[in-house]
Amino acid sequence: MGDVKASAADRPRVVVARMLLEAGIAPLAERAEIQQGGLNVGRAELLELVAGANAVVADPTVAIDEKLLDAAGNALRVIANFAVGYDNVDLDACRRRGVAVTNTPDVLTDATAELALALTMAAARGLNAAERDLRAGGWAGLAPGAYLGTELSGRCFGIVGLGRIGARYGELIRPIAGRVLYCGPRPKPDAAAALGAEHVDLAALLAESDVVSLHAPAGSVSTGMIGATELERMRPGSLLINTSRGSLVDEMALASALAEGEIGAAGLDVFANEPKVPGELLAAPNCVLLPHIGSATTTAREAMARLVAENVLAALDGREPPNLVS
Ligand code: DGY
Repeated sequence: MGDVKASAADRPRVVVARMLLEAGIAPLAERAEIQQGGLNVGRAELLELVAGANAVVADPTVAIDEKLLDAAGNALRVIANFAVGYDNVDLDACRRRGVAVTNTPDVLTDATAELALALTMAAARGLNAAERDLRAGGWAGLAPGAYLGTELSGRCFGIVGLGRIGARYGELIRPIAGRVLYCGPRPKPDAAAALGAEHVDLAALLAESDVVSLHAPAGSVSTGMIGATELERMRPGSLLINTSRGSLVDEMALASALAEGEIGAAGLDVFANEPKVPGELLAAPNCVLLPHIGSATTTAREAMARLVAENVLAALDGREPPNLVS
């Protein structure tokens, strides 16, 4: 018993702020002591839990800020985020303390782009409202004028952010798209050539696209990038799809654009204050709403968990983690 305690004390300590799938826990458990906060961990409880940790596994709902880093203390070597996005992490504060930050890119690209495609189709055809009617017993048989949606073949698709996920979405919609436009901080000639996509600025993309799909990372540049002015620029009947981060869209402006019929419909997987969804969006029939499930496939989530473990173990060994962000 004494030996077991001694060896546990010698092993590095990994705190999983909320929870990690077994695919990540198993490789970590071979080398480290692991404590998990659980899905409902409170902030105060988490600040206590991280004290003395060598590694913290976070996710987009866990704010990694000065306070948490102070609570963790000097032994902390890495924050391993279970997500490709890392807007929940104060990178400067981590840098100042010499704490590495890692993410889980690539393995969720297909899952997230496929969900953006699903939202595009669902929003275009009002699948949410049609299914709700059927389940409620409100379907009385074929009615030629009911449930009329928008056909997407030959339409113009605008991709905001032609990174990994945006480019994969482009590949998925390419077979039915008429034109493909994209915008972003700089042209991406190779990805654009593969899609036959034209680089335009955001204003032109909004004015010309029938479908606008957001794939830009969260940050000061993208916060509120789709507000009332931008929604007014969009074509009547057009669709707005967001699988990136809720902070990109002014949700009240979107609710009003949907209610006023300025745009046709929206498909949202992300929200500014998750898990809160504004009542105005919940009330909008022409808005398909999902609970942030972009990467929620078994393939993607297990691969994300494995990457988290690889990143943590590399940092604990003093090697460069494979997915070092900063
Ligand atoms: C990400 O990886 O950033 C996703 O939003 C998490 O599912």
